[in-house]
Amino acid sequence: MTEPLTINDLKNRAQRRVPKMFFDYADSGSWTETTYRANEADFADIKLRQRVLVDMTNRSLKSTMLGEEVAMPVALAPTGMTGMQHANGEMLAAQAAEEFGVPFTLSTMSICSIEDVASATKKPFWFQLYVMRDRGFVESLLERAKAAKCSALVLTLDLQVLGQRHKDIRNGLSAPPKFTPKHVWQMATRPAWCMGMLGTKRRSFGNIVGHVKGVGDLSSLASWTADQFDPQLSWDDVEWIRQRWGGKLILKGIMDSKDAEIAAKTGADALIVSNHGGRQLDGAPSSISVVEEIADTVGERIEVFMDGGIRSGQDVLKALCLGAKGVFIGRPFLYGLGAGGRQGVSKALDIIAKELDTTMALCGRRDIRTADKSMLYRK
Ligand code: FNR
Repeated sequence: MTEPLTINDLKNRAQRRVPKMFFDYADSGSWTETTYRANEADFADIKLRQRVLVDMTNRSLKSTMLGEEVAMPVALAPTGMTGMQHANGEMLAAQAAEEFGVPFTLSTMSICSIEDVASATKKPFWFQLYVMRDRGFVESLLERAKAAKCSALVLTLDLQVLGQRHKDIRNGLSAPPKFTPKHVWQMATRPAWCMGMLGTKRRSFGNIVGHVKGVGDLSSLASWTADQFDPQLSWDDVEWIRQRWGGKLILKGIMDSKDAEIAAKTGADALIVSNHGGRQLDGAPSSISVVEEIADTVGERIEVFMDGGIRSGQDVLKALCLGAKGVFIGRPFLYGLGAGGRQGVSKALDIIAKELDTTMALCGRRDIRTADKSMLYRK
């Protein structure tokens, strides 16, 4: 089989290996998927300046995110049910990220638990928190993340209510997987995936099952989310969490500079310009189209990251030029994981790093930390 050269190659391979309901879960946005598509498409409108005859030896992609040294300023985004793309998915992705030297963020809605990932890695990872109505449970998650020595908390702000993804409803998505004839057929046609799942006990939500009262398995993600997630979450709660956490804090899901102003005043260390990968407010602009305004507004006071639609090293460079200190990738690593487990995630990181390195050189830069707006054509 030919070696994957692009993130899209990994996506095609993942589609052949992962049962439809779980591939669709990753490869979908809310309602008409307009924002999901815009996240990717809008990168094409940003043009890089080609420069020539600049010494291109000794190039470096090294940078820092939240003060932590990173091999390139690209972190793995928190993604729910990653362990359904591949058996033990979160552990494998965290290992690939650790080996590469970039941060891994574990979702509250992961299949492998905080403790599983801690036992599979040596360096600290980041933990993403969804705030549930049950604040006692939120506190227990924070304690578990502290005990696992997570070095940052990513607090997601844009999922007080769940955007509807039609594919998930049509597929009857659930974890553990359901055993209706349709689902059995979807799994039976993916033998490598099935073998992996038979070899692991991790098939349900590792951080939640057994901790949230009444949850044995989650047969309907949407109704469960509506029951558990707190629709009254407010900026006061951000302060409550900041105090209880006490460590580095990243606020995820900022798309408006007024919200960015408030976020900067909370004492958080960073924010992520994000529309949840086009999975929440359909009709919102792409993340890349608002990152400059937000970075210009608050970038001197708080570290600004972005995510959404990054599929190449060129995309990473464009985001950095527009003011992001670093970016997060969701689907690119999920496709890698579905395509080939830990090696597939490493491949996704490799592809992006190589593209980023060469593109930076063709723009006449040797050090990624110098990326700025002068590298772009401005309208
Ligand atoms: C997500 N995202 C997400 N965000 C979060 O804070 N907690 C979560 O549990 C999830 N779950 C999740 C599952 C899947 C399958 C996807 C694709 C995304 C959003 C994620 O962190 C990030 O914002 C987007 O994935 C970024 O867009 P790209 O890189 O996927 O285009």
